[in-house]
Amino acid sequence: MPFVTLREVLQNAQQEGYAVGAFNANNMEIVKAIMEAAVEERSPVILQASQGALRYAGLNYITAMVRAAAEEADVPVVLHLDHGTSFEQTMLCLRYGFSSVMFDGSRYPLEENIARTAKVAEVAHAMGATVEGELGKIGGTEDDISVDEREAFFTDPAEAEQFVRETGIDALAVAIGTAHGPYKGEPVLDFERLAAIKKVVPVPLVLHGASGVPAESIRKAIELGVCKINIDTELRQAFVRGVQRVIREHPDEIDPRKILGPAKEAMKAVVKEKMCLFGCAGRVGKSR
Ligand code: G3H
Ligand code: 13P
Ligand code: ZN
Repeated sequence: MPFVTLREVLQNAQQEGYAVGAFNANNMEIVKAIMEAAVEERSPVILQASQGALRYAGLNYITAMVRAAAEEADVPVVLHLDHGTSFEQTMLCLRYGFSSVMFDGSRYPLEENIARTAKVAEVAHAMGATVEGELGKIGGTEDDISVDEREAFFTDPAEAEQFVRETGIDALAVAIGTAHGPYKGEPVLDFERLAAIKKVVPVPLVLHGASGVPAESIRKAIELGVCKINIDTELRQAFVRGVQRVIREHPDEIDPRKILGPAKEAMKAVVKEKMCLFGCAGRVGKSR
């Protein structure tokens, strides 16, 4: 199937009250793990490429790998840029065939974030692609900041309403207490804030840093309007666990396929589990 946009997969999610998983892809094993899980679980799926992925694999390889996977698949696939940093980069991704881009202008003051994101949205929409914006700062678990400092970066509901209205984006990433990377303790999400944002923002909301967030919090976030959920760290952890297990059990193994194959299976199990939790599993009929 050719790529579909974020709007095409999130519209139904918003109407029916579930979320679509967005998984970070960096190499062939990760792409295959995500796609095999999506096809087996009959789920729409978002594969996204981060700054690190573009540096590691390159835009050409990422696009070609995900396109090959989507062509073989009979479920809707979105190829999405994760945390795009510049107008030029988002345009390049669109030219290569991405069906969706995130422009992350969260480091800029509100007005500048609006202006930069709106410019990306205008061109992306003209090209038939969709755009995710970010308001508030999500940050990383390794950032050396206190809880109070992190709360200062949370998304403000009134600003969110203005941001979405003035940029014309299709989905909004919110800062409500999650962070990228492995959590030290249990993340505490600000559900009141999420509900207040949902009240004034008509587009689907996006939860970043969802690895390690307890299932109960994920369910509640979906109930309160989250329709796209980003997972990267738990895939990395599964990959490394898979590799370590083979090396431990077969220290003389020299065939990379016998090391990476089990790592792929470990990631696939994580993707399947998330698809069931998010409620996107079983949403696509069988084509034959
Ligand atoms: O949003 C961050 C993602 O987890 C990817 O980070 O640039 O290291 O691939 P990365
Ligand atoms: P985690 O690595 O915490 O799962 O976050 C992924 C993410 O938000 C990518 O944009
Ligand atoms: Zn993110």
